[in-house]
Amino acid sequence: MGERLDVLLLGKGTVGSELVSQLEALPSGAPLRLIGIADSARLLFDPRGLQLEGWRERLGVAPRYTGPAGLLDAFAGSAAGALVDCTAASGIDKLYREAFLRGVGVVAANKKPFSGPWVDREATFTAARVSGCALRYETTVGAALPIIGPLQDLIRTGDEVRVIEGSFSGTLGYLCSEVMQGKPVSRAVAAARELGFTEPHPRDDLGGTDVARKALILARELGLALELSDVELEPFVPGWLLAEDDPDRFVEGLTAYDDELSDRARRLRGEGKALRYLARIDVLERRLSVGPVWVDADHPAARLRGTESFAAFGTRRYRPYPLQIQGPGAGASVTAAGVLADLFQVAASPHRHRVELGLGSLRISGC
Ligand SMILES: NC(=O)c1ccc[n+]([C@@H]2O[C@H](COP(=O)([O-])OP(=O)(O)OC[C@H]3O[C@@H](n4cnc5c(N)ncnc54)[C@H](OP(=O)(O)O)[C@@H]3O)[C@@H](O)[C@H]2O)c1
Repeated sequence: MGERLDVLLLGKGTVGSELVSQLEALPSGAPLRLIGIADSARLLFDPRGLQLEGWRERLGVAPRYTGPAGLLDAFAGSAAGALVDCTAASGIDKLYREAFLRGVGVVAANKKPFSGPWVDREATFTAARVSGCALRYETTVGAALPIIGPLQDLIRTGDEVRVIEGSFSGTLGYLCSEVMQGKPVSRAVAAARELGFTEPHPRDDLGGTDVARKALILARELGLALELSDVELEPFVPGWLLAEDDPDRFVEGLTAYDDELSDRARRLRGEGKALRYLARIDVLERRLSVGPVWVDADHPAARLRGTESFAAFGTRRYRPYPLQIQGPGAGASVTAAGVLADLFQVAASPHRHRVELGLGSLRISGC
């Protein structure tokens, strides 16, 4: 076990709040110390370790911060630190790069820094490499399911990954199961919304972009310099249904698609098929596709239950049967646990360095 890691959490939403609870429940002696919690405006901070009683109310009246320095100065007295991104903010990769310059590692649940423009993603990875700081983001695909780590192992051990197939949206997995059980899609979406499985506007799930981002994150691990616009994306429902901006009217509008999808589900169920929303990465063809697929009963995705996710890696070594990973792939508790596991990995990493920017030179020293 390495030295103690000071942790600054960005985001007090579903995942961030659960992470606070899980950090609080760790036994004393754990190598992680939460020193700060920030939302998009305020920072609650104590370099000796935050007292967590009433943290949410205290954050609501904590001082406002400005810019990256306003956050990262919190690590001034830390021997080792990690910034945890439990936001869905765009453009936050600049903050990651600032963190690396200060010798602070990053753990992210946020997909956007890894699925934005390739040049920005490369700049972030280069900054992490140059600084020697950790950059971990296992939960960006499949929540706490180990997907990115095993893929990196396949790559670094010299295997050749040819195809990746996966069901990466717990929400769409749930909807597929409900439709296959005979529920009209509009009612299935309404139920998923009530259960808290969807984004505030369910269009953000049904449009498929979230799955496209995950597929892109995996493809880029393999060195494919592709952009989000390169993903061949078919939404879960016809595109014309996605235009409605009001979430309630959007769900009502889905009734126009109920009969067509229910009829198809009935017919194809009779043929032993199941509806799934799958991502497929054909590495040799440099092709990423995401969309609804009617899989045969013997397809591994056919056996998924509820919000389960699944990934299959077809490689030179793993054939004719692919390496498969399956299990709950969404939800605050598993996602926060995955972030926590990443934090433990950072704490145990022997490769952390403090980087100080001197005048005109980059000095790197152990911390
Ligand atoms: N839920 C899951 O199953 C799951 C699984 C894997 C990954 N994730 C990812 O985990 C992330 C968090 O999800 P969530 O459901 O917890 O989101 P959420 O409930 O919407 O919470 C987002 C939080 O981020 C804060 N925030 C926004 N911009 C910020 C900024 N620039 N700096 C600091 N804080 C900022 C927000 O604060 P304000 O209130 O001030 O805006 C809010 O507290 C997302 O990227 C999501 O895609 C979620």
